[in-house]
Amino acid sequence: MAESRAVPLKGRSRQKIHAPRGQMSHVYISHSGKDPDALLALHEALRAASVTVFHPGEDTSRAEADAAIDRAFAIIVLVSAEGVRSRRVRQDVEAAKAMGLKLIPYQVDKARLNGFFKQEVQPHLRLSSAMPDGLDQLVAETQEAYRKKCPVIAVMNLKGGVGKTTVTAQVFGAWQEAFGGRVLLIDLDPQYNLTQTFYPMDLADASSAQDRSVISLFERSRLHARDAASPAENWLGLTIQPFTPAPRDQFVHPVLGVDGPPGRLDIISGQFEISKYAFSGDPDALAAVKQHFLRSVDHYRSEYDLIVFDTNPNATFLTRCALEAADRVIAPMHADIYSLRGVRLLNQVICNQIEEARRPELSILFNAVNRNEQSTFEADARNGVFDEIAGFPLSEALLTAALPRSAHFAVKAPQEGQPAWRQLVIHAGRGGGLKPIRESLKQVALEIRDLNERKKGH
Ligand SMILES: Nc1ncnc2c1ncn2[C@@H]1O[C@H](COP(=O)(O)OP(=O)(O)OP(=O)(O)O)[C@@H](O)[C@H]1O
Ligand SMILES: [Mg+2]
Repeated sequence: MAESRAVPLKGRSRQKIHAPRGQMSHVYISHSGKDPDALLALHEALRAASVTVFHPGEDTSRAEADAAIDRAFAIIVLVSAEGVRSRRVRQDVEAAKAMGLKLIPYQVDKARLNGFFKQEVQPHLRLSSAMPDGLDQLVAETQEAYRKKCPVIAVMNLKGGVGKTTVTAQVFGAWQEAFGGRVLLIDLDPQYNLTQTFYPMDLADASSAQDRSVISLFERSRLHARDAASPAENWLGLTIQPFTPAPRDQFVHPVLGVDGPPGRLDIISGQFEISKYAFSGDPDALAAVKQHFLRSVDHYRSEYDLIVFDTNPNATFLTRCALEAADRVIAPMHADIYSLRGVRLLNQVICNQIEEARRPELSILFNAVNRNEQSTFEADARNGVFDEIAGFPLSEALLTAALPRSAHFAVKAPQEGQPAWRQLVIHAGRGGGLKPIRESLKQVALEIRDLNERKKGH
């Protein structure tokens, strides 16, 4: 996460306290103003963990506080004798509740809670400064809330050609259209088909020639410093030097544009050169590169509501990076035995490579099914017939919605000069059978969103 900062508020209009573009979303600390030591300790601990913090000062108006709460990913409430008497803290909690913000109370003295605080704050109160690791837990919980604000989904299957790229573009394009919000697609496949879905090959290649491409999530590049060497030109070496992630608008390509549908659906352009990591024999350097990637993804979470990776079909270093960053894996599969094998391998890789606490949840999506009748294979899969072969409860991991086989999903190269959003089935074109196709895209998106929401609620 980015640098912490205290926001100077005095005399500022509501407008001005809006974070400048590129600024991270923050955690809001609600306090009475009369617990300076506790506030300072908390501020320092969060700052050390690179969590961006906002806490109101004496001159902060209610409107300014509400605007800051609106932009926050969570609210920490300093629970103290002074805090429970403070009108402002009470108003903060009310505003946070109205916005559905995660509440993290932290008790700093022996205050008894009654009335409003007993009802609204006590049920969430688990941490206090009297606990030996209370502050550490508070920091960990805050970081967790930050990660959950923007889920990361990896579309993955260790079988090729099952529709990973199609699902990444079309389902999550439909997601953006249906639910709004800011969606970032990242092309993690060295074949970079996702990028080529939206842009002609020469445009994609021109972008990576400037390092305005996925390699800049892994290594310091010309996108981070003008005098840097391009990691794409250094096949044998890895740059382990740390870097500050590039500003979003210098990095991503907006798919929805001025002349297109509203909303934010962006893509980080892919490139072949990230396959260099598969050839590296330097585990320490790879570990550093992986950390860069995880940190970069974490950084961009603050500017999006959903991040989605399209991935390569074989298990490589990139697979591992994607799995470590992801909260959920969506595995498209065809209704056949080869796809089943891919999903089985995928589950094995997840279980073997990722420690349990950090393991992404696996959901399976039937793609390219016959629209008119369910195949015996699909029916059997839903009835648990393949759970044993899969090596995990496949029937429970299956999404209820499926994507039909349709010519509308067939890859069409983007036309020269044509806007990228035209490649999205949800937005472009007219013609027979589009309505049910769009409906099924939205159904799949809705189901995935519900799964994410349920996980958040835990
Ligand atoms: N539901 C569908 N109906 C019809 N065609 C589809 C459907 N889904 C995918 N396709 C087509 O199948 C082909 C493979 O799909 P896609 O490229 O999305 O698979 P992939 O898993 O990303 O492949 P790879 O492993 O090579 O990355 C493409 O030509 C795509 O247009
Ligand atoms: Mg693909």
